[in-house]
Amino acid sequence: MAKQNKQDPMDKMMSLCKRRGFIFQSSEIYGGMNSCWDYGPLGVELKRNIKNFWWQHMITSRNNVVGMDAGIMMHPKVWEASGHVANFNDPLVDCKDCKTRFREDKAPHKFKCTKCIMKFDVENGRITGKAKYTKSFESLVANEPVTYHKSTCPRCNNEEAIELEGIVCPNCGGNNLTDAKNFNLMFKTHYGPSEDSAAQIYLRPETAQGIFVNFGNVENTSRLKVPFGIGQIGKAFRNEITTGNFIFRSREFEQMEMEFFIHPDDNEKWYKFWINERFEFYKLLGIKEENLRLRPHAEDELAHYARGCMDVEYKFYFGWSELEGIADRQTFDLDQHIKASGKNLSYFDQENNVHIVPAVIETSAGVDRTLLTVLSDAYWEDEENDRVVLSLHPRVAPIKVAVFPLMSKDGMPEIAEKINNDLSKYMATFYDKAGSIGRRYRRQDEAGTPFGITVDTQTLEDGTVTLRDRDTLEQIRIPQDKIVSTLIEKVNA
Ligand code: GAP
Repeated sequence: MAKQNKQDPMDKMMSLCKRRGFIFQSSEIYGGMNSCWDYGPLGVELKRNIKNFWWQHMITSRNNVVGMDAGIMMHPKVWEASGHVANFNDPLVDCKDCKTRFREDKAPHKFKCTKCIMKFDVENGRITGKAKYTKSFESLVANEPVTYHKSTCPRCNNEEAIELEGIVCPNCGGNNLTDAKNFNLMFKTHYGPSEDSAAQIYLRPETAQGIFVNFGNVENTSRLKVPFGIGQIGKAFRNEITTGNFIFRSREFEQMEMEFFIHPDDNEKWYKFWINERFEFYKLLGIKEENLRLRPHAEDELAHYARGCMDVEYKFYFGWSELEGIADRQTFDLDQHIKASGKNLSYFDQENNVHIVPAVIETSAGVDRTLLTVLSDAYWEDEENDRVVLSLHPRVAPIKVAVFPLMSKDGMPEIAEKINNDLSKYMATFYDKAGSIGRRYRRQDEAGTPFGITVDTQTLEDGTVTLRDRDTLEQIRIPQDKIVSTLIEKVNA
């Protein structure tokens, strides 16, 4: 049975997501809202399973990490202190001809090698111009981010000679452009009935600051000693200039963040530790290792607060892209809040009898991006058996087992319904009695349901049922009184 999922375009996935009730476009009956998405019955279960697994992996299973849940709206001074008011900007350019507005760093870039004079264009890290014929260069840029202009010339291999000639409009290709101006990505709103500037607040662009401003509260109440972490899951909002690739980049999304407070001298050790832990997390979610990689940020990519940052990337249909960042934030955030609030957020190191400001290693993942990764990695087309399959790991599958009576007669539905009721006390199940059995199986294959139980004529004779495996299509018979224990074991394997 050939698994051939990788080249499937995003629109096949999007259509499956809509067809099976994973994800719908927001406000669809009013024509839809660009890049805004609603999670349907299967999508919300998948999302909840991902978040629960993160919570269990990062918080419940560790003695040195606790959870919290801060508000989305915070004092505006938080965002001044954190640097977001001054620095959370994207460079925005307008095309004077076609009036398109776009991010300067995402626009097609025109390059020239000053040594061999070869010219080429690059968009989203890939060559788009006539230099495409150069095979070695194509593979080079396919693996590089847009900041590749430091790369080697594809023709003469010169490292110093690549020069940026300019950018062009991604819509009309023209170069009649305004200078880039900074656009702050935070959504603004007003707190309370007054709309004057004193009442202006922001929707949080990251959950992290809710943790930093509560560092003292958590430290005082949880009796934890540095090193320890605080994690939370919640919505974040960014008025992104460029959205797209389905749920990959939107303006409203969810983050799973953990801030690990350490002695500043221990940063190397914990940075490595968390990079490793986070990479393992994606493997435990069932993501194929060959589709995951780690990529350190180049100096000019680092956020204003970070000394180092490692991205966990996934090989999406549209190329390698960031899933999560693990950042060495140093003492930046606590220092800033100490300065701005005047409050003492230092920690008393009893062992050495000194007050220190802890440094921070952050792990920051996107829920929606993880969900897109899980779906992309699980999707494949089984041509031999004429079906589309989502090989979701049982840990995250929205439905763990579907129960079917083969036919609607001879008491089969009653037996199947009882099995379904018994199983549903332990796991998410789905009972389906209508239609041909083949079609019912296929519907569950597309929903990612790993197991199927079928009550058939043999059940009436010897009390056994068929247990079907979604991926291998193997069918075995098990006695009815072993169904619950067998499935609990398989789902938790
Ligand atoms: N506190 C650090 C921070 O927020 P980030 O790299 O800006 O770092 C972390 O964001 C993660 O949040 C990203 O790796 C991504 O998974 C997710 N994320 C960021 N912007 C997003 C967007 N516009 N849409 C969906 N997910 C986003």
